[in-house]
Amino acid sequence: MRLKHYLQFKDLSAAEYSYLFERAALIKKKFKTYEKHHPLADRTLALIFEKASTRTRVSFEAGMYQLGGSVVHLTSGDSQMGRAEPIADSARVISRMVDLVMIRTYEQSKLEAFAAHSRVPVINGLTNEFHPCQILADIFTYIEQRGSIQGRVVAWVGDGNNMANTWLQAAELLGFTVHVSTPSGYEVKPELAGIVNPACYRVFQDPHAACAGADLVTTDVWTSMGFEAENEVRRAAFARWCVDADMLRAAQPNALFMHCLPAHRGEEVSAEVLDGPQSVVWDEAENRMHVQKALLEFLLLGQL
Ligand code: CP
Repeated sequence: MRLKHYLQFKDLSAAEYSYLFERAALIKKKFKTYEKHHPLADRTLALIFEKASTRTRVSFEAGMYQLGGSVVHLTSGDSQMGRAEPIADSARVISRMVDLVMIRTYEQSKLEAFAAHSRVPVINGLTNEFHPCQILADIFTYIEQRGSIQGRVVAWVGDGNNMANTWLQAAELLGFTVHVSTPSGYEVKPELAGIVNPACYRVFQDPHAACAGADLVTTDVWTSMGFEAENEVRRAAFARWCVDADMLRAAQPNALFMHCLPAHRGEEVSAEVLDGPQSVVWDEAENRMHVQKALLEFLLLGQL
């Protein structure tokens, strides 16, 4: 099989996503009924973390074991990667010993350099620029709750960060629209996301206007990992971009609320919204594991 990496959302086609969403639903059903599913027996996944994680680590680690495989966990602090071994050399060595690699790191370029020298599929577990596994889970969660996302409106409120960039790629590929509202200076980056169809997103100064009529309202922390030095400046700049009940009321009556977590109640989202009836954040978090199991299987074995 041709070597396939998952470095950005746009690395897969719409048809491949249709397959993955169906496969994830099947895999989830088997998990819920304790049915064994071991297509990756004797395979090993390396998890490399240069930033903190709860959901990404647990979902990949538990998911790989459930697929019959095993996991090696590395951080920059406990490997030679943190002592300046060239990324290409690390990739050459690690990919001779494992079957798949997931990396959470800072610059997308570092992930791409690893992939360029890897013999095995490499998965983006979050970079400064993109978070494709999260959007994979978010869209699966939307489909599970409401059906197809095609033609729907997703309101992104807050930082024009890795999540926002990835939403744009997903919208262009899967045929929905993102209403983006960010404070000035924190805009989304369509050129970085490689967006060629400007109709897949609309920019709003006012976050309430972005939410008007939306089918899904979503946000993220005001300060992503790696930007902690900007915390106080961001807190002031983002004050109007808290998703509260008033903002959610502007959306469709059956709109969903999502957040990739961890969340800060009272900052980017009110407790009333995060813990309210339209919020699906716990399903969204759990679904990371189911979609990533489908992804691991697909990257190694193709469509089954
Ligand atoms: N959403 C997400 O990636 O969570 P973690 O940072 O806990 O992995």
